[in-house]
This record gives sequence, structure tokens and C-alpha cells, in this order.
Amino acid sequence: MSLTSERLRLRELRDDDLRDLVAWWQDPEVLVTQTSAVMHPRPAAEVAELYRGWSRNQGTDAGLVVTDREQGTVLGHTALYGADAHNRTATFAIMIGPPHQGQGHGTEATRLMLRYGFTELGLHRVQLTVIGSNERGIATYLRAGFVEEGRAREAVFRGGAWHDLVHMGVLSREWSAAASHLRPGRPAAR
Ligand SMILES: CC(C)(COP(=O)(O)OP(=O)(O)OC[C@H]1O[C@@H](n2cnc3c(N)ncnc32)[C@H](O)[C@@H]1OP(=O)(O)O)[C@@H](O)C(=O)NCCC(=O)NCCS
Repeated sequence: MSLTSERLRLRELRDDDLRDLVAWWQDPEVLVTQTSAVMHPRPAAEVAELYRGWSRNQGTDAGLVVTDREQGTVLGHTALYGADAHNRTATFAIMIGPPHQGQGHGTEATRLMLRYGFTELGLHRVQLTVIGSNERGIATYLRAGFVEEGRAREAVFRGGAWHDLVHMGVLSREWSAAASHLRPGRPAAR
């Protein structure tokens, strides 16, 4: 099984993907965008295990490799995780490798995951946190349909400075109203 949009295919993790994915995760430019409390360097094998864990695809958790639909090039990784049957709220995460950023892949993959989450996984709500200084991330999420729901002021210490932690979310009814052009069979617009 894979999810496809105009330019992307989201598919299961394969061992061959890990070399690029691990290297990108360890790239300082990517590491600074992580919202986790402490930014530790980690050995490659440990990061590979993280990806395997994120990509088990059990229950409503989905962790998929973002690839170019035509060439099959690995572009990044994305996940929806943590929903329970009662609240049906999942957390969204994405990483596009630095060589492939700024070409619309993050926006297209985010839209594809929202479509999957709302129309296949039966989610009611998708949420995320992003560091306030990650303007590219925030621009991507806004374009895909997330709204800012709040800010924890100066909640993240990164690079010797304090940053806001921005909470964003999108509800299934908002997605349905706004994204009719993203339903299956219709190409995803940028
Ligand atoms: C955030 C991320 C997923 C976005 O994916 P992407 O493929 O690079 O993004 P896209 O090309 O789809 O869109 C980026 C948008 O941000 C804009 N943008 C790019 N750099 C920007 C910057 N420095 N400041 C403001 N906006 C910026 C782009 O212009 C584009 O918007 P536009 O088309 O309206 O101009 C990707 O860059 C990434 O994985 N970064 C590192 C890890 C990360 O930040 N993950 C998210 C943590 S919450």
C-alpha cells in the first residue's frame, strides 16, 4: 500500500532508506527544528531504530517515507501518531531532507497525510507543535490547513535563545470544507 499525490508517493520504510533519513535527522539544520526538550547527538544506529519505531504502522499510527512518485527518490519522512479510539486526535510530524526542501514537497506531503488521516484513519483532529522561529514549517502547515491555536511563550531554549512553542491544529470538518480539491482522484494543488 502507498499513498500518492501529484508528485509524491508515501510508502513503508525500507532499510535502504535509512542512510539518507538518519543523515538528515543528524543535520544541525534539521535538529534545531525538533521540539523535544534536549538536543542530544545520537549514534546512527539509535536514530535508525527511532525511524523503525515511527514506521511500524500499527493501529492508527502511520509513519511513511516521502518519495518522488516518478523517480522513487527518498525525500523525507512523515508520521501521524498517538490517536486513541475515544478522542481520535493524532499528532503530525514531518521532515523533508535539506537537499529537497523549498520545492513544495513538505506542503504536498502534509496535505496527503491529512487526507489519509481524515478519510482513512477516521481522525477527528490533527495537531502539532512547531518552534516559533521555524517560519518555513509554519508556512507549510498554514498552507495545508492548520491554524495556530496558541503559543507557549519562550518554552524552548535553542541556540542560546528562547523560542515560542506554537500549537497548531486542524479538525476533520475544517479539512472537508477547505480541501475538497484534495479528495482521491483529484490532483493536489499547491
Ligand atoms: C518544514 C518542512 C517540512 C517544509 O517542507 P518544504 O518542502 O521545505 O516546504 P515547501 O516547499 O512545501 O513550503 C515551504 C514554504 O515556506 C516558505 N519558506 C521557505 N523558507 C522560508 C523562510 N526561511 N521563512 C519563511 N518562509 C519560508 C516557502 O517559500 C514556502 O511557502 P510559499 O510556497 O508560500 O513561498 C521542511 O523544510 C523540513 O522538514 N524542515 C526541517 C525539519 C522541520 O522543520 N520539520 C518540522 C518540525 S515541526
